[in-house]
Amino acid sequence: MRRVALPEIGTFEAWRAAARDLLAEGVPPEQVLWHRGAAEADLFAVAGDPEQALSGDHFGGTPVPPAKAVTVPKGFVQLARMVVWHRDPERFARLYALLWALRDSRGLLEDRGDPRVDRLNRMAKEVGRDKHKMTAFVRFRDLGHDGPRRRFAAWFEPTHLILEPTAPFFEKRFGDMDWSIFTPDLTAHFVDGQTRFEPAVARPDLPQDAAEELWRTYFRNIFNPARLKVKAMQAEMPRKYWRNMPEAELIPELIATAQSRARAMAEAAPTLAPARAARIGARLRAPEAAEVPQGLDALKAGLAGCRRCPLWENATQPVPGEGPLDAPLMIVGEQPGDHEDLAGRPFVGPAGQLFDVVAARAGLRRDRAFVTNAVKHFKFTPRGKRRLHQAPNGGEIRHCRWWLDLEREMVKPRLILAMGATALESLTGDRRDLMKRRGRLEAAEDGTPVLITMHPSYLLRLPPSERPQAEAAFEADLRQAAGIIAAAA
Ligand code: URA
Repeated sequence: MRRVALPEIGTFEAWRAAARDLLAEGVPPEQVLWHRGAAEADLFAVAGDPEQALSGDHFGGTPVPPAKAVTVPKGFVQLARMVVWHRDPERFARLYALLWALRDSRGLLEDRGDPRVDRLNRMAKEVGRDKHKMTAFVRFRDLGHDGPRRRFAAWFEPTHLILEPTAPFFEKRFGDMDWSIFTPDLTAHFVDGQTRFEPAVARPDLPQDAAEELWRTYFRNIFNPARLKVKAMQAEMPRKYWRNMPEAELIPELIATAQSRARAMAEAAPTLAPARAARIGARLRAPEAAEVPQGLDALKAGLAGCRRCPLWENATQPVPGEGPLDAPLMIVGEQPGDHEDLAGRPFVGPAGQLFDVVAARAGLRRDRAFVTNAVKHFKFTPRGKRRLHQAPNGGEIRHCRWWLDLEREMVKPRLILAMGATALESLTGDRRDLMKRRGRLEAAEDGTPVLITMHPSYLLRLPPSERPQAEAAFEADLRQAAGIIAAAA
C-alpha cells in the first residue's frame, strides 16, 4: 500500500505530481491512500499500511523512479483543479481512480452517465459555487493604518477548503490594501502585494466598523418587498453565511414586513406621477428654487437629498468634498468611484492612493487642500458582482455644478486643480484637448485660476511602458500647483 501525504498549501500541484508518478509506475488506485495535512492523516491512521509513504511528490525510503510522461485530457486537469479543494476525504482517491480509468477509455470524461464522472463533476460544481459565495460574502473590517496601506481583516467559514484557490480574486480586487482572511482551516495574509498562508487560528475578535452600517444601508435600499422570493434569496445567500454578514441581520425584519410594505406600495402606485414627471418635478423643485445651504454641514445635508439628476438612485450615498474650509487649493476630480461610494469620502480608492503618492513626491499637501469631485454620485453599470465606472454625461455634470459652485463659494480657493476632462468641463465649460491644455492655467467662470492636469485613473489604465512618462508629467503639474500656492502664501 502507498500512502501519499499532500501539503495544505500547493495541494493541487502536489497531487498532480504524485498522481503522475503513480500512474507512470502503474500503481492501481486500490493500492494508494491519500491524505492532506494532519487532520486528514488521522482519518487514515488505522486503515493505512505504512509500507511505502509518499510525501508530496517524494517517496519516503524508496527512491522515486523517474516518471514517464503521462498525458491526460485537459478537461480532467480542470476538474481536478476544483475537486482537490472539496472537503470529501475521498476526493484524491476518486480523482486518481478516474485518471486510472481514463488510460483505457479517453472519452470517459464526456460520459455524463458514468457515476464516477458524475460525482466528480458535482463536487467541482460545489467547490465552484463555494468560491463564488466567498467572493460575494466576505465582509472586511477596517483595522486602520499600520503604515501607508490600510489594513482590513475578515472571518469567513467556507463549506470547502477554498481559501488558497480564491485568494487570487482578493489579491486582484483589493490589491491596494493589506488584508487578512481567517477561516477555520487556514489563514491568508496579503501584505505589500504578497500573500502568505498560515495555519488557522481561533476566530479573532475583529472590530465593528462604519462599513457595516453601509452594508446595511445598501441592502435596505436594494431590497424590494414587492419582488421578494424568500426561497430564491436563501438559495443565493444561504443562511450559513448570514452570521458573518452585517446586512443579514435585517433579513428577518425585512421579510416579516415585506407583505405589508408591498401592499402599501401597490395602494400608493396609482397616485404616483410617472417617473419622467417626477424627475421633472424634482428638477423644478431642486435647482435655483432651492434654498442655498449655509456651511459645509448644511451642504452635506442638502446633498443627501439631491434629486437633480437620476444618479442618486443607484449610488450608495453622495460623496461631498472634504478638507479645510480655508484651503488655498481645491482639487477637483470626476466622480466618486466604487470605494468612495461605499466610504462616503473622495479619493480613497486606487486613484486616490496614486494621487497621494505622487502628491507627496511633488510636495503637495493633500491635508491642506479641499478635495472634491465635479459629480457627487457614483455612476456605474452593474456587471455581475462588480460595478463598472461610467463617465457622467453633460447633463449630469451641469446639474452637479450647483454643488461644486457652492463648495467653491465656501472655500474660495486661490487655485483649483482640475484633474481630468470632467473636472475641466465643469470648471471651464470646455472639456476638449485635455492633454494639450494640461500644465496650463485657465480661469473658472468666477475668475479663480484653474490648473489643468490629467486624472490619476488615466495613469492607472496606461500600459506599464507608458506609465513612467505620464506619471512624471502629472508630478510636474502637482509640483507647479504646490509652487503657486507657496508663492501666493
Ligand atoms: N475618481 C475621482 O474622480 N474621484 C474620486 O473620488 C475617486 C476616483
